[in-house]
Amino acid sequence: MAKKRIFSGIQPSGNLHIGNYLGAIKNWVTLQDEYESIFCVVDLHAITVPQNPEELSRKTIEIAKICLAAGIDPEKSAIFIQSHVPEHAELTWILNTIAKISELERMTQFKDKAGKNWEGVGVGLFDYPALMAADILLYDTQVVPVGEDQVQHIELTRTLAKRFNSKFGETFVIPEPYVRKEGMRIMGLDDPGKKMSKSASSEYNYISLTDDENAVNRKIKKAVTDSGSEIIYSDSKPALKNLINIYSLFANKSVKEIEKIYVNKGYAKFKNDLAKVITGFLVPFQRKMADLSDKVVLGILKKGAEKVRPLAQKKLQEVKKKMGFVL
Ligand code: AMP
Ligand code: TRP
Repeated sequence: MAKKRIFSGIQPSGNLHIGNYLGAIKNWVTLQDEYESIFCVVDLHAITVPQNPEELSRKTIEIAKICLAAGIDPEKSAIFIQSHVPEHAELTWILNTIAKISELERMTQFKDKAGKNWEGVGVGLFDYPALMAADILLYDTQVVPVGEDQVQHIELTRTLAKRFNSKFGETFVIPEPYVRKEGMRIMGLDDPGKKMSKSASSEYNYISLTDDENAVNRKIKKAVTDSGSEIIYSDSKPALKNLINIYSLFANKSVKEIEKIYVNKGYAKFKNDLAKVITGFLVPFQRKMADLSDKVVLGILKKGAEKVRPLAQKKLQEVKKKMGFVL
């Protein structure tokens, strides 16, 4: 049986934390064996908020390095830069004529990012979900692995695909979101009530993928814990629950196994080991990143675009033909 196809995108932000890795990239690495995988560095999405041009190019390469160092294998998966396949922008224009203002207005991410005075906000930010729908629909994507916050955009993608199909005939595959339970939300180390975020005011909120051993030790030591001294996984101990989740994902050990290891052992030992488990991932990861040159990475991205572009071109031609464009 043919493998199902997945597509996912990640914004070029160089400053990723372990929540981004555990919640997104780590899942991609696992999925690439089971699915035909296409991963996209979404620079066109990034410019929906102001970007410094030098930083945008640096971060575009850096995020690709992060993906490759984390285990995305260009032999198995295609990884490419969104703007290298111009069909994404062209299909977005077409989908703009299918999407309704009222649908885009309902998007939580838009409301969060635009704030109250949204009359002054760029149209690109409003239109962001149409571009995301184009990304997904160009490749007959069946499954879209994303964080919980993106599910609403996939629902809109499904709506647009169905609307197009019923107006112009079967054209698009209707994609399904795929949200993994574990790793879905890594919470802040200084505040387990909010998700870990690189825009947090304190650096003690997150562990960055570029943090060294010292920083990791410091941050884990300072991470808030709950009252009591037992290492147990419970909703009544949200801080510890978060730390156990992080441990479990990095060590590939179940929560039960971890609880068993730390019976009668207390927080100091647990935190000490947790810091080791995290650096056990970060040190070789950072070494791999340092070994990847910009040139090699750009070569991989260009090859990725060459591989997927024919699929995008074919789908766009089909769309245009059905709509009555002269080809
Ligand atoms: P962002 O940096 O918020 O645009 O997110 C990039 C990717 O990382 C998305 O797939 C998010 O769902 C995921 N992500 C961001 N923050 C977290 C977090 N604290 N826990 C788990 N996943 C996250
Ligand atoms: N909007 C997604 C995010 O911020 C990134 C993204 C862009 C994406 N295009 C996509 C994810 C297509 C999945 C499929 O995380």
